[in-house]
Amino acid sequence: MDFLELAADRYSVRSYSDRPIEPEKMERILKAGQLAPTAVNFQPQKIYVLKSPEAIGKIRSLTRFAYDAPVVLLVCADKTKVWRSPSEHGYDTGEMDASIVCTHMMLEAWALGIGSVWVRGFDSRQVAKVFDLPEQVQPICLLPIGYPSDESVPYEEWHSTFRPLSETVEER
Ligand SMILES: Cc1cc2nc3c(=O)[nH]c(=O)nc-3n(C[C@H](O)[C@H](O)[C@H](O)COP(=O)(O)O)c2cc1C
Repeated sequence: MDFLELAADRYSVRSYSDRPIEPEKMERILKAGQLAPTAVNFQPQKIYVLKSPEAIGKIRSLTRFAYDAPVVLLVCADKTKVWRSPSEHGYDTGEMDASIVCTHMMLEAWALGIGSVWVRGFDSRQVAKVFDLPEQVQPICLLPIGYPSDESVPYEEWHSTFRPLSETVEER
């Protein structure tokens, strides 16, 4: 599929089928994340593939936005690996890097017919605690993934209402 077609076609999937994700497709999705650009190529991302009944139960207890996805990717940034600005005190690119990684995975999944939804509706401190994450690993977002159920449809208004480019883009 042409890239713009893929981008327009993708929507947030919030209802999943039981069909398991084939291991080779899962590998491709994770590979797409690996290939993402990150600041200075530091690759501070850490991705937890939540798929055991125990892990899925835990994440569903922490957020309603895991929906009924069979797999949830917990995308994190390792604060010991992030690029830190030498001039802008306190600024690092961990969240940006992890977001690009997540975007790559979301789009590769869709290219394979696998749906996902980007999720930030959770408390990162709770997630870090329940999953016993190392101190330096900061949860950035979740990506529930799986084959869409037959009932899966986009939240139409959210999915296809776009501000005009004349509002969001400005030439200087
Ligand atoms: C940073 C970010 C956070 C989001 N958090 C949530 C969330 O917590 N729960 C949810 O159902 N969708 C969440 N979404 C999905 C958006 O609501 C959705 O992408 C947007 O409305 C456009 O719809 P579409 O993805 O179907 O095109 C999030 C998306 C982004 C980019």
